[in-house]
Amino acid sequence: MKTTVVALANQKGGVGKTTTAINFSACLAEKRKKVLLVDLDPQANATSGLGLEKGFGSSIFPALLGESDVASLIKETGIKNLDIIPSELDLAGAEIAIARRDDYLHRLDEAMKPVIESGTYDYIIMDCPPSLGILFMNALNIADEVIIPIQCEYLALEGLGVMVDIVNQISEAGNPNLHISGILMTMYNVSTNLSQQVVQEVVKHFGERVFDTLIPRNVRLSEAPSYGKPVIEYDPHCVGSAAYRNLAKEFIKRRKKQMEPESEALPTISDVLAQSEDSDD
Ligand SMILES: Nc1ncnc2c1ncn2[C@@H]1O[C@H](COP(=O)(O)OP(=O)(O)OP(=O)(O)O)[C@@H](O)[C@H]1O
Ligand SMILES: [Mg+2]
Repeated sequence: MKTTVVALANQKGGVGKTTTAINFSACLAEKRKKVLLVDLDPQANATSGLGLEKGFGSSIFPALLGESDVASLIKETGIKNLDIIPSELDLAGAEIAIARRDDYLHRLDEAMKPVIESGTYDYIIMDCPPSLGILFMNALNIADEVIIPIQCEYLALEGLGVMVDIVNQISEAGNPNLHISGILMTMYNVSTNLSQQVVQEVVKHFGERVFDTLIPRNVRLSEAPSYGKPVIEYDPHCVGSAAYRNLAKEFIKRRKKQMEPESEALPTISDVLAQSEDSDD
């Protein structure tokens, strides 16, 4: 089995990286894909959001230093088909510790190679910290694809050019597989024109690279982590659950290029664009 490695990245904070990492992973797992979520953020929000304790020594840090076998750091989440390499605050020190090494941009490569080559997982999803630091660069060096969540807010595109440039540079410099598989619009507010305008602006820049699936602002999505559950377990029938299920479906469909029916009538990028064309008439 070929493992696909996906990084959820945006140096901007609070755009929905972790919410997407947890719920996208859980929805892929629900679709019987074997998924490993790697929490690369010292804030460890993906770890606690899936109900795991932030235990000392349990992050990927020792594997980055070559002091621990990464397989021994993999934990079950209690969700079928979904495992995790947790994070905890000590990972904040990793950037300094590995910066001294010549291969400081490839430590994750070295650490993760056995898991990737074993083909145990269909997908490895990495939740990146909100920075362009060493952990982020390490993640991009092993990723096949990057998903960039963008919040449907004012200045959504700010700083995005830098991210896109870095992805291009890394793909030219040694990871030719790497590409942006999709821009994901998050926290879409159906009742504001601003959300609609931001979507139009982003589509203007990125065209088909924007996922048709929109993630709506949904309070269930923000509540679920405090119960240590992905939203599809916390409230399987809320719009947040439907949206992330649609994302998993669209992601797989894009990869297979085959048609599958959508599961629920949520607003999509196509709807927003069609609406705005109508109102322009
Ligand atoms: N679709 C949504 N609807 C409502 N709340 C959301 C949604 N997506 C994310 N949130 C909330 O917004 C906040 C930021 O989301 P999240 O932690 O996923 O972003 P992040 O990009 O990972 O942040 P950071 O950069 O700090 O790691 C959280 O409180 C989360 O619960
Ligand atoms: Mg986060």
